[in-house]
Amino acid sequence: MLRSIFVVNFLSTQISAIALKQEWIPERDEFSSIEDIARKMNSIKAIGSTFALRDEYPMTECQIEIMLQITNQFENGPTNNGLIYDSCEVTADSQGISAGFIQFTTCCGDLLSLCNDYIQQYQSDKNFFCISYIPALQAANSAPECGEDGNSVQLNMSKYGIDSSFCPKWTETADTNANFRAMQRQTALNEYLGTLQSLIQEYNIKTPGVLAQLFDANVQLGAVSDIAAAATVKANGSPANGTSELTWLGAFLEARTSYTINLGGAYLDTVYRIQAFKGGIYDTGNLNFTDNKIILPADDSWAMSPITITC
Ligand SMILES: *[C@@H]1O[C@H](CO)[C@@H](O)[C@H](O)[C@H]1NC(C)=O
Ligand SMILES: *[C@@H]1O[C@H](CO)[C@@H](O)[C@H](O)[C@H]1NC(C)=O
Ligand SMILES: *[C@@H]1O[C@H](CO)[C@@H](O)[C@H](O)[C@H]1NC(C)=O
Repeated sequence: MLRSIFVVNFLSTQISAIALKQEWIPERDEFSSIEDIARKMNSIKAIGSTFALRDEYPMTECQIEIMLQITNQFENGPTNNGLIYDSCEVTADSQGISAGFIQFTTCCGDLLSLCNDYIQQYQSDKNFFCISYIPALQAANSAPECGEDGNSVQLNMSKYGIDSSFCPKWTETADTNANFRAMQRQTALNEYLGTLQSLIQEYNIKTPGVLAQLFDANVQLGAVSDIAAAATVKANGSPANGTSELTWLGAFLEARTSYTINLGGAYLDTVYRIQAFKGGIYDTGNLNFTDNKIILPADDSWAMSPITITC
């Protein structure tokens, strides 16, 4: 998969401002062992069927696709090239390497989780490029230089044993290996939506639109339970006790905006991400992705024209 020049230029100039991710992700604690990961994978039917967070409200494959596409737009876009699995660079945002359709990073450790998940699931693939990088990825995870304030530091990856061939190998593997692309989807779903399962039940969330917002917030910020609690105060209740999902989503978007502004620094430039979601899902009330389609509106600070996401 080749990315357009526009996207490449955009990435090299602006990625640090749009794809920031905090290294501190509280939900990660649920994945303390390979057994845990395997158990989660068995409990979540993410690929090729439905995502059964709650048996009675499964997301369809198409709804999952739209959800992933939305976050991909914010992490790798704007783009018309679908999920950008093959992006990889040492970004100047104190996050180390950022790679793949949700910009897995060395600092927050989801890049390491992805490699471990793949190794576990495809044990016969002894040539998988990540295998030889596992100790280096472990060293780079939560390295002291990792920062969450969005300052524009490019980490020296060779200090941790990650040489300059890592990104070319990532790109080649993403372009040629369908299992690696599928694992990116599965790891992203497991880490950023599967871990919210009890929160989703507690708040009685059913619609793909709200799930997509929780997923996107978790990918970018973590802290979903704090933002959800603030939203519940704002909305004077939640879908668990009578507030509609749409009203609660509006409150969540406001609470996420406050949270993002409080983080400050380069995070201030990521508010467009919340506004685009608001325009495409909340303002239209399209919580069910009706006709398997959503449209993110144009935004001066990000996309010059509306982006249609469909499947
Ligand atoms: C990066 O780290 C390596 C290994 O520690 C070192 O040899 C190299 O000089 C460093 N590069 C820069 C630009 O600091
Ligand atoms: C509604 O439910 C939320 C949790 O979803 C809880 O925090 C809140 O106190 C409840 N409000 C009322 C009025 O019961
Ligand atoms: C979304 O779909 C569900 C299940 O079909 C339905 O009950 C609900 O009313 C729909 N909500 C909206 C906002 O369209």
